[in-house]
Amino acid sequence: MKLLKKLLSVLLVLVMLFSLAACGENGSASNSSASPSPSSSANSSSSSNSSSTGSSDKKITLGFAQVGSESEWRTANTEDIKRAAEAAGITLQFSDAQQKQENQIKAIRSFIASEVDVISFCPIVATGWDTVLQEAKDAGIPVILVDRGVSADPSLYVTHICADALAEGANAFNWIHGYIKEKGKTPRSGDVFNIAILEGTVGSSVAADRLKGFKDAIAAVEDADKYNILFSQTGEYTRAKGKEVMESFLKSGADKIDILFAANDDMALGAIQAIEAAGLKPGEDIIIVSIDAAKGAFNAMIEGKMNCAVEHTPNFGDLLMETAKKIVAGEEVPSKIMVEEGIFPADIAAQELPNRTY
Ligand code: AHR
Repeated sequence: MKLLKKLLSVLLVLVMLFSLAACGENGSASNSSASPSPSSSANSSSSSNSSSTGSSDKKITLGFAQVGSESEWRTANTEDIKRAAEAAGITLQFSDAQQKQENQIKAIRSFIASEVDVISFCPIVATGWDTVLQEAKDAGIPVILVDRGVSADPSLYVTHICADALAEGANAFNWIHGYIKEKGKTPRSGDVFNIAILEGTVGSSVAADRLKGFKDAIAAVEDADKYNILFSQTGEYTRAKGKEVMESFLKSGADKIDILFAANDDMALGAIQAIEAAGLKPGEDIIIVSIDAAKGAFNAMIEGKMNCAVEHTPNFGDLLMETAKKIVAGEEVPSKIMVEEGIFPADIAAQELPNRTY
């Protein structure tokens, strides 16, 4: 009987302990759901807002695949994009493709893999982008082209921030045409003005458009037969190649070239060295016009070695960041966003140089 009493009391203690433990589990769960702490309540509401609305205060990451650093213009463009990203509070993943399309494609694929919010790039050449652009689209990452264009279907990217390269080429020729008339210039030999052209990167949209714009403008003047394109070859947008190609032009026709149209400043500056080495006066014996209007061209104009620079601005960094923010916020943006540009003849170079930012 004594033993039975002891067994019953042990059993009773065990039942009490078990029910206390069960109550503790339920109690803590119901407490947490009934009265959350103020701090956990605030955190959960703010994090659910930002993920459900795609929030405007979320820090945007932009992957940018640059062409390289072939020119003064390109260096200025890289600096402007980095500065603008920082000013806009955008995290920039920057890649320099060193003039190779395959490097740009690799960079874009790595941006996709790291799930950036927006991808932007300046396509080295116009063709060969369809697959990687489709991959970005499939991943739901919007793409903004800058400067140069692509031949791919426009549905594969959201917008293109660019200048009118056809107009740049046309502006270059029209300025030369007006200058020749105004100064009463005559050809150095024969009765036509012989033109040498240093073209940009083969296959790049801007190079093709500048050349087309220049040639179309010649064809559009009534005395088009006064002009003859004697030489036209790529100088790859670099100073070294511009010099080398100009040397070969001069070897075949130093006494014939009246006009040099260089599709960027760096090639013009390289060509100026070749022209001087050949014993000629750049800007006098040969009229020289280039595109970009960077400080190097302004200095050459001030020294009387170049006649005109057609502007192609690299300063679209702020516009790129603003456009990226709009796209991430779900706003509509135009399919093409054009930037403004000017024309700077040598006679205003000294006055304009202090205003130049690149
Ligand atoms: O695509 C723009 C061109 O590329 C610029 O005129 C040139 O300087 C650059 O390298």
